[in-house]
Amino acid sequence: MNPTASDVTSTPAFRLRCINCGNVADHAEQDFRCPNCGDLFEVFYPRWDASRGAGASGPDLQSLKQLWRDRKTSLAQADTSGVWRFRELLPALKPGYEPITLQEGNTPLFDLPRCARSAGVDALQAKHQGMNPTASFKDTGMTTAASFARQENFHWVACASTGNTSASMAAYAARGGMRSLVLIPEGKISWGKLSQSLDYGAVTCQLRTDFDGCVRVLNDLVRRKPIYLLNSVNPYRLEGQKTAAIELLEQLSWDPPDHLIVPGGNLGNSSALGKALIEMRDLGLISRLPKLSVIQAEGANPFFRSIREHGGKQLIPTEADTLATAIRIGNPASWKKAQRVLEATQGTVEQVSEVEIAIAKAEIGSDGVGCEPASAVTLAGLKKLARQAFVKKNERIILVLTGHVLKDPEFTLKFHRGDLFTGSAHEKEASTMVDQQRAPLVLEANTESVIRVLDEFDAKKLT
Ligand code: F0G
Repeated sequence: MNPTASDVTSTPAFRLRCINCGNVADHAEQDFRCPNCGDLFEVFYPRWDASRGAGASGPDLQSLKQLWRDRKTSLAQADTSGVWRFRELLPALKPGYEPITLQEGNTPLFDLPRCARSAGVDALQAKHQGMNPTASFKDTGMTTAASFARQENFHWVACASTGNTSASMAAYAARGGMRSLVLIPEGKISWGKLSQSLDYGAVTCQLRTDFDGCVRVLNDLVRRKPIYLLNSVNPYRLEGQKTAAIELLEQLSWDPPDHLIVPGGNLGNSSALGKALIEMRDLGLISRLPKLSVIQAEGANPFFRSIREHGGKQLIPTEADTLATAIRIGNPASWKKAQRVLEATQGTVEQVSEVEIAIAKAEIGSDGVGCEPASAVTLAGLKKLARQAFVKKNERIILVLTGHVLKDPEFTLKFHRGDLFTGSAHEKEASTMVDQQRAPLVLEANTESVIRVLDEFDAKKLT
């Protein structure tokens, strides 16, 4: 049976299914774990399963694409959201419930010509999820999951975070009239992210542990108190995060690229984007799957090691350490989901060094785009994948940039001043960064000294 517009334009009935034992449920416990085996749930849409494999692309799907396009000019609240605009592919709220939205999604796709040259590929584009309302991709999942929290009448929502989830959760909880509790590792998140959660009114606890320690405390807490868990084990988060891939394909006129390259931390985002690609392929919205590849920092590489050393069959938690603090995660919750995405899309996993991340971040900046350190692993990883010929020079490649450059200005300033790695094991390798460094210049307050600087730069023919 081919999927028809009415299959997908009518409100989709959805259920939860355990990714390990297949247990199906309509409601999850507060820890979002399968009561049978303890693994994660995913949202699935039984009606689509009935039409799986049909591969139809007839006029019905065309009218769905038209409907999504038309909503761009609508002023209705759900239509102004780049997430809820695609609500036919999302779990529906009950009648009478409105989504909590900050008009998330609707993020730009940028060309990165300088980065393309540096990676040795003909062309390169970035889907910039840092252009969301709280400046990271988390908003696309928070609008869905926070809306479900409110529908279920929770007074408190909570997350453990490396900084972006907490900033996003705090904002959406505030908009939705709920209280929020943030657990973050003390001293290991950027000031920008911490200040957001304070400003949006979260109760913010800096625990003397790492991210993985914060997750442990939170998991215990939600079993003892009526608190709604907003980490990415919550399957409604991933449904919202799916829409970045749907929106991307719409921006590409539904012509799939060859590669999507994504940073990997807790591995919720790669799982979500992969789920979207597979669902779009199964529904017939796209004709083939792009390869989705995940890049980790060398100091926080449990998924890289899982795939390379254990064939993706098991994951051994590591002690994580990287200046890309957003992905400083040693025990990623969604590794099994991400492993399945790599397998389904024929993507791969790579790891990159601290210095490679820093250089890549400055290069993305030099294209006038910018991003936070964790997002820059994508370009650093692409360079490696291009050298290995896993990515071919003439292929169409999209980097998913996950956070805005202003999320971590301390990293950027230290990089340009040249003291990012002072006293660290990476100090020697850091000499390779000088070409990208643009330290601020302190001058006497006269025109002559400024002109001298301009002349020096012209003489060096710097671009
Ligand atoms: N990039 C940024 C900017 C992030 O904040 C995160 C995760 C990732 C990439 C990795 O995404 O975890 O889905 O694999 N940040 C989480 C947080 C963990 O708490 O803000 P992932």
